[in-house]
Amino acid sequence: MVSYLQVDGLTKSFGDLILFKDISFGIAEGQRVGLIAKNGAGKTTLLNILSGKEGYDGGNIVYRRDLKVAYLEQDPHYPEELTVLEACFHHGNSTVELIKEYEKCMETEGHPGLEELLIRMEHEKAWDYERQAKQILSQLKIRDFNQKVKHLSGGQLKRVALANTLITEPDLLILDEPTNHLDLDMTEWLEEYLQRANLSLLMVTHDRYFLDRVCSEILEIDNRQVYQYKGNYTYYLEKREERVNAVTVEIERANNLYRTELEWMRRMPQARGHKARYREDAFYELEKVAKQRFNNDNVKLDVKASYIGSKIFEAEHLFKSFGDLKILDDFSYIFSRYEKMGIVGNNGTGKSTFIKMLMGEVQPDSVPLILVKRYDLVIILKMACSLMISSRLLMWCKT
Ligand SMILES: Nc1ncnc2c1ncn2[C@@H]1O[C@H](COP(=O)(O)OP(=O)(O)O)[C@@H](O)[C@H]1O
Ligand SMILES: [Mg+2]
Repeated sequence: MVSYLQVDGLTKSFGDLILFKDISFGIAEGQRVGLIAKNGAGKTTLLNILSGKEGYDGGNIVYRRDLKVAYLEQDPHYPEELTVLEACFHHGNSTVELIKEYEKCMETEGHPGLEELLIRMEHEKAWDYERQAKQILSQLKIRDFNQKVKHLSGGQLKRVALANTLITEPDLLILDEPTNHLDLDMTEWLEEYLQRANLSLLMVTHDRYFLDRVCSEILEIDNRQVYQYKGNYTYYLEKREERVNAVTVEIERANNLYRTELEWMRRMPQARGHKARYREDAFYELEKVAKQRFNNDNVKLDVKASYIGSKIFEAEHLFKSFGDLKILDDFSYIFSRYEKMGIVGNNGTGKSTFIKMLMGEVQPDSVPLILVKRYDLVIILKMACSLMISSRLLMWCKT
């Protein structure tokens, strides 16, 4: 894989606050990396450093030559007097610069260098820039292109900035919380856009479903270090637990040994000669490990409220009986996307019948069940129905 970005030994602090120390990681062509960490751990600062907006104390950052990078800041700013469309031409990305060059050439007598410029305009698809800008803005529900930036809400401004980063079709896209101001439609559109586009991605998001769908790898900042996981958020949770367990075991082991060594240190202060020097040094090292406080909280990501509105099925006054056996008696429920429901009951109470109703294989006695058909829903129901509910499936359901 071609390396797009390599970071080596990066260190950054603000005064006494050390955000990260000697961290190294890389992003290669086609990698989609989710950056996660607790609030205040330095995600935004790291992205600012990578985009050159913030300095750093030590280390190296190397991009592949001529790599097109676009960056969506957490809180973007534009000069207030610009219109929405002008804002899309404001940041000096290479296409915008090229268009400016072209316009200048056309205003100059004899049009110097026009031929070469035309080739570059063609190559960069610069002719299409404005049309594309308008299209993406519309998808993000920004419809008044002549509105002044100063009249936009924070959320609208962020969407303009997002459009801005997408238009140029960069090789590497760096996004800081892109979905915070998007509704469900827009989030799904962005999800698709990012999957389709042939790009590499480094993204901060608190939205775990978006993260799971878009990113195939996780980069975590924790205790000033970075950890790279070759899998999505679910995989990260598993691996992180393993890492936490390993550290906990190490601390426990150190504590046991520490107690013995402490006895030795106390009992034989006189007897400690030169030979014991090594053991004494080792004792202090051991003490450091034993006394360390390890914060094993996971980074908690949210389920965005906007997802919840999306309905999978709706049961309204459902009735179902087989002779005297009542299975459903006036059952009403709205089941939303990402909800997890367990169906429990003694044998013969109607669990499978209920699932078959969801699949449309059994009709209720009353009005039909309203089911928004989804491919993955049907598959999971089929699996559940055949009662092959393995622990793996249950794990999958839980996440
Ligand atoms: N310019 C700055 N000067 C001093 N401290 C800063 C500055 N920028 C950020 N910080 C501090 O650095 C820490 C990390 O901030 P930030 O990168 O925004 O974290 P995150 O994006 O992970 O929430 C925070 O404690 C923040 O207060
Ligand atoms: Mg941030």
